[in-house]
Formats: sequence, structure tokens, C-alpha cells
Amino acid sequence: MPRLIVISNRVAVPHARGKAGAQGGLAGALTAALEKAGGLWFGWSGKEVDDPSDQPKVGEFGGVTMATIDLAPQDVEEYYNGYANSTLWPLFHYRIDLTQYERDFGLGYERVNERFAASVAPMIQPDDLIWVHDYHLIPLGERLRARGFRNRMGFFLHTPWPPTRLFVSLPFHERLVRTMLEYDLIGFQCGEWLESFLHYCGKELGAEVDEATGRIELDGKCVIARAYPIGIDYERFTALRDDGEARQTAQRVLSSTRRRTAMIGVDRLDYSKGLPEKLDGISRFFDHYPERVQDLVFIQIAPPSRADIGSYQDIRETLEQKAGQINGARSRIDLVPVRYVNQGHTAAELFGIYLACKIALVTPLRDGMNLVAKEYVAAQDPDDPGVLILSRFAGAAQQLDAALLVNPYSPDDIAHNIHLALEMDPAERRERWQRLIVTVRDDNVQRWTENFTGDLAATRG
Ligand code: G6P
Repeated sequence: MPRLIVISNRVAVPHARGKAGAQGGLAGALTAALEKAGGLWFGWSGKEVDDPSDQPKVGEFGGVTMATIDLAPQDVEEYYNGYANSTLWPLFHYRIDLTQYERDFGLGYERVNERFAASVAPMIQPDDLIWVHDYHLIPLGERLRARGFRNRMGFFLHTPWPPTRLFVSLPFHERLVRTMLEYDLIGFQCGEWLESFLHYCGKELGAEVDEATGRIELDGKCVIARAYPIGIDYERFTALRDDGEARQTAQRVLSSTRRRTAMIGVDRLDYSKGLPEKLDGISRFFDHYPERVQDLVFIQIAPPSRADIGSYQDIRETLEQKAGQINGARSRIDLVPVRYVNQGHTAAELFGIYLACKIALVTPLRDGMNLVAKEYVAAQDPDDPGVLILSRFAGAAQQLDAALLVNPYSPDDIAHNIHLALEMDPAERRERWQRLIVTVRDDNVQRWTENFTGDLAATRG
């Protein structure tokens, strides 16, 4: 197998891995992918400095070479906070109401992609497989091609791809997608995002698209687009069952909730995660069943994310208000229905929390995949598993259809499913969990890596 070069905006440098709460699924998954395959991981250090060097800082960690560059404040503003997270992120999550179309953001995005290309170029060998990740770096492959690299190059999008009618609201949308077609292989999390992408290529670019194979032909070039659902590092995560920190955390949750059923949510504080809508659903549940405040406690872990962006500050405020309103209306002297926690947690702590909570409420309005749902399933006790309530608009719902699937926009639907989960008998819980665990165990992150890199290696080169 040739050497693998992974390029992503966010790089999980080991000292920052501990409290992983806010890093999202990408960094964890790529850590697992690279530890298996070895190779090079290139990305942003996360640091902002005046006049940064194009020469990456290089370190070796467990067989993986990590190379990072710093960014200038203007780059962070226009590329990371700007085009990536105020233009593409909301647009890709169907939120054109939050999408900002600023010309400077687009220019900053192209400038930083060019810097990434210039910095990584000296490290690339002719046989290397290059695997670029996520919406921050769509044009990177084209920038490398412009420098003469003929390597096999793949791109994986961790977010949804929006329907054509929304996507065409992006100025220069054709230009962006044409750069994407410079890769040899393009991966999406599930069939729905893939379909939207193929539809766009056929309708707006006039490409020849074969839906059955994902082959796209345009101007004499050919690229394959397919769905590769990402999974968790199943072996490593489930090994935490015997971890002292995991057990202690489970014990802490159980002793603090006493006889009440604990229901858990773990999400980066992001408007795509449907957090206010989730609280509306919980509020509706208590409206319908006020006496159940004695039976149910909801714990929401929501580490802050992208805090310099206005829409993220707004969502935080909304959430604090809503949690306060529920607790104000429903608390008793000895119990509080909603615990809202802003901190990140280690994987071991999360394992313990998932194990102690008999319901998980995972209700993004739109999500590329959602690995919290998969981790929750993995952490359950096979003899007495908890119930997963999952948004039908998460990529994970296409695989985890034995969960209770909900419409996250409907407070009544959320309330109804919380009630079903609380009342579900052990036989049905076991039967649903046995169906869920098969895909969580088998469609794991190692298989995802093998499938994608195997297909990439088999492309023309
Ligand atoms: C999502 C994105 C990732 C991103 C992560 C955390 O999972 O798909 O690319 O790394 O969120 O967000 P952040 O902006 O902190 O990197």
C-alpha cells in the first residue's frame, strides 16, 4: 500500500486530545485511520500568529508524522470563521438563513487553500495517496494539480451536501464544484448527500452522470463519487468498559440521578445540532406528563464551538434561556430536570456517561453522520441496553433504523418518543439494540478507511 497523506483543517495533535468534547467526529476518526495506516497528517495548528511561516512544524506521534502550519489573523477571520464556517457550513446544513456570502471570505478561502498547497507540496512523493477532508479544503486538490501533482487524490465530505436549489445560492458555485472534480474519488457520508451532489453535477454543470456507479464525466475528465458511511473506532471505544475512569463516571451519574432515568445528549454547541428544538421537545414532554419530572433527568453536554462567530454566540444564549425556563418551571427543592454542561469530556468519561444513561436524545436538524449515536450504542450493556432516539435527518439514521427515529422540528414527536423510550420493555430494547450494534461494530472506522483508500488506490493514478 502506498503512503497515505491526510490533509484536514483540524489536526488532533496528541496533547490536545484529552477532553475531546468539542473536536467533533472528524479528528477522532482520522486519528484512528492514520494510526492503522501510518503516514502523514497535515493541517492547521489551531494557532493564530502575525506573519506565519509556510514551513510546517513536524513531529512524530505513534507512527504518524504530524505537520502543521499557523494562520494569520486575517486568514482565520476570512477562511475559518468566514468562508468555511459562515458560508459553507450553514449552507451545507440547509441554513441559507444563516449563510453569509462575503466576497472577502471567498478570497481568504482561496488564499489559505493555496497556502496549504504550497506548504504540503515539498512533502509529497510521487506514489503517495492524498486524502483531503471536509469543506474547508475543497479546492486544495485543484491547487495541487496546478503545481503538477499527478498523485491519486481523494476528497471526503464530513457534512451533508445540500439540495441543488439551495446550493445554487452560493456565488461561484460552479467554480467550487469544478475544483472538486479534480479529485479521483469523492466520498460522502450517505446516499442522500451523494444523490444531491450527482444531481447538481448533471443539472448545473451538464456533466454525464451514471447514478449506479457514481461516475461523473465532464470535459474529458472522469471522477467517481460514492457513499462511505464513517464509523467509530469500535475496539478502542468498547475497551473502555474496563476503564476505571469510565466506571467511576458511570457511578457518579447513577448516584446523582438516584432512581430517575437519565437521558443524555452530547453535541458541539452548534445550531445544526437542534439543541433549542430538543429542549422544546423535552418541555412538551413535561407539559404532557408533569408527574414524570420525578422519573426523568436530562443531561445535555454541549462544549462551546467556533465561539467568535455571531450565530454560535446566539445559539448559546438561546439554549441557556431555554434550559433556565424549563428548570424554573419544573424544578422541585430536591430535583432539577435539566442539567446543562458546557465542558468537554474524555472518551472514558463519555463511555461511563453513555452507560449510565438509559436514553440518548440525538436530534440534529441536519448532520453528515453523527458519531455520538454510534458511540452511545457501543457503550450499552447488552443485557440491559438503553434506547436511542435519533433524528431522521442525521446521516446515521440511514444505518441505525432500529433506533426510535424522530422529526427534530416537532416538539410533539420528540415528546412522544421520550415517552415510548421510558415505557419500552426490556425485550424490545434488547431486540432493537441487537440490530443497531451490528452496523456500529462492523461498519467501523477501520473499514471506512480501508474502503475509501482501497478504492482510491484502484483509481487511475
Ligand atoms: C465537524 C466538521 C469537522 C470539524 C468539527 C469540529 O465535525 O465536519 O471538520 O473539525 O466539526 O469543528 P471545528 O471548527 O472545531 O474544527
